[in-house]
Amino acid sequence: MIDISDRVRNKALQAKIVTAEEAAAFFKPGMNVACSGFTASAYPKAVPLALAERMKKEPFTVNIWTGASTGPELDDALAQVHGIKGRLPYQTDTALRKEINDGSVDYLDLHLSESAQLSRCGYLGKIDVALVEACAITEEGNIIPTTSLGNAASYVQSADIVIVEVNTTQPLELDGMHDVYVPMDPPNRQPIPIVKADDRVGTTYIPCTPEKIKYIVPCDIKDHTRDLSPIDENSKKMAAFTLEFLNAEIKAGRMPKNLLPLQSGVGNVANAVLAGFVDSDMTDLTVYTEVIQDAMLDLIDAGKLKIASGTAFSPSPAGMERFYKDVAKYKKYLLLRPEEVSNSPEVVHRLGVIAMNTAIEVDIYGHVNSTHITGSKMMNGIGGSGDFARNAYLTIFYTPSVAKDGKISSVVPMCSHIDHTEHDVDIIITEQGIADLRGKAPRERALEIINNCAHPDYKPVLLDYYNRAVEATKHAHTPHILKEALSFHERFLETGSMKK
Ligand code: COA
Repeated sequence: MIDISDRVRNKALQAKIVTAEEAAAFFKPGMNVACSGFTASAYPKAVPLALAERMKKEPFTVNIWTGASTGPELDDALAQVHGIKGRLPYQTDTALRKEINDGSVDYLDLHLSESAQLSRCGYLGKIDVALVEACAITEEGNIIPTTSLGNAASYVQSADIVIVEVNTTQPLELDGMHDVYVPMDPPNRQPIPIVKADDRVGTTYIPCTPEKIKYIVPCDIKDHTRDLSPIDENSKKMAAFTLEFLNAEIKAGRMPKNLLPLQSGVGNVANAVLAGFVDSDMTDLTVYTEVIQDAMLDLIDAGKLKIASGTAFSPSPAGMERFYKDVAKYKKYLLLRPEEVSNSPEVVHRLGVIAMNTAIEVDIYGHVNSTHITGSKMMNGIGGSGDFARNAYLTIFYTPSVAKDGKISSVVPMCSHIDHTEHDVDIIITEQGIADLRGKAPRERALEIINNCAHPDYKPVLLDYYNRAVEATKHAHTPHILKEALSFHERFLETGSMKK
């Protein structure tokens, strides 16, 4: 077994060190297993893999609660053996998505800021075991987290039984990078006293006691973070539109020179937008976001970043190596918080965050679908997009104007599912252009979106729909022809293309 005695600083706790197989034997059918992990960072690995092996011989299911998506050693391994019955609050795994969409898994797609509170209020049942990754365990039994915090602190607080995976691939220098604060629940909740992105309000460890810890399992499997695909042309165009727009906002006096704290979703577009800041002449940028990716390291190296606060550090494997080589330098600029703080509506609103997230589709009035393909099939989940979109100072959504080689228009008459309403969306950006919806009534918004953001192949049919809807409803507030509103989606389902 890997030697972790130097990382388990409480001598008595060393007697609880067991193999992953021994720990996996503890799990029983129907248990609520609350795990650390947010993106492919800091999720338990050795125990879920051993549990999946056990489930192959002895099929049963458990409910898996996490911070968000995780890596393949948890979601994929358990989904492959049909070992998950309930799952919350977010996921991105292909095998799990299939199980969600064929009815095998009951998926609770939750606002991430609310997920810890929901697990605490009790109607989902009690946490049977918290399973968390750690860098080390202190003499007092406190847990030093690794590359994300997610809901780990709240889960440990609520659980009577905790299993800790001590991951030796995670450097001890991560200690100090975290700010752990679990809000009290109503009616005792206090304001979260964060007024600047770099304010610290909690502890650097997850409070725990030796008595709660049932097993400690050594693990030497690295975070399975994903490679970034090269920035494509569409993303570059959307990034350029963003910088142009933000520069105009500064010029108009609506934002300070170093902008307001930035939040950006994950993926290609987000990375391209942040990469755009590296080449801009903006400095002293602050970030109050959920997931910290490679571009943040570039901003630090370029001397442009004051602080990036998030809940997960999830760069590509190359970005992780770069970070591990100089943790002392990078960690001065990075701060990880529980997701109920990184995504807190209260704090996001107070700081005046600029929220930049990706949509699956948008409609001509500015509603946004972030989660469902043609209305029924779950893609990933709402994640933190709702936390930020509703509460930000400025809410931007991105989408390429077409999907599936042009067979689908991402600008449609009516979204097949709505996660973010017209009331929350300020700006829509596609590779075609930018629609500024602020201060515009629905009919003005429709023309702005169709003219600026729709693909030329779909612009005429969208304008035709809109004009007929205006006539049919005699210039109503939000003109629609209901029996036609989802005709684009119907056509796609019938013929494989939205084109007429
Ligand atoms: N209709 C049908 N399918 C569509 C589509 C549309 N309008 N737009 C995209 N798709 C398909 C793509 O073809 C792709 O399918 P594939 O997996 O079969 O190739 C899939 O949806 C994902 O599209 P892609 O362009 O690769 O997406 P992405 O990586 O940029 O992610 C979201 C886009 C919306 C799925 C992703 O941002 C997400 O899950 N958002 C919700 C959570 C969130 O915003 N988190 C950050 C908040 S802090």
